[in-house]
Amino acid sequence: MIGRINHIAIAVPDVDAAATQWRDGLGATCSAPQDLPEHGVRIVFVSQPNSKVELMEPLGENSPIAGFLERNPDGGMHHICYEVADIKAAADHLVRSGARVLGDGTPKTGAHGNPVLFLHPKDFCGTLIELEEVAG
Ligand code: CO
Repeated sequence: MIGRINHIAIAVPDVDAAATQWRDGLGATCSAPQDLPEHGVRIVFVSQPNSKVELMEPLGENSPIAGFLERNPDGGMHHICYEVADIKAAADHLVRSGARVLGDGTPKTGAHGNPVLFLHPKDFCGTLIELEEVAG
């Protein structure tokens, strides 16, 4: 059901400092920071030939990653995103298999403008999984 990994998201306390570490230390190519107020994060995209990493700093009062950073003040891996061809079919299959879809269970528009869902970390070995519907 799942396709390729779309991205791995890392929560960080300071996205500018993190981008400097990735750029200067690891020699990575980093995007300029982008504020995504509707998602409560400020993001830098780190692109490699076979992967994308998103460095995310909380933005605003009700950032969905604020609690994670309280528990992990140095930052840490927050979620892994897999691509799916049909997110509603994927959600139906997961619910039938006993997994929990977070929120009200309906896809929302994610940071890339595609429908996304998040799955309960307790159902996947402590790992928050995002599913993103990617056409083609
Ligand atoms: Co994501």
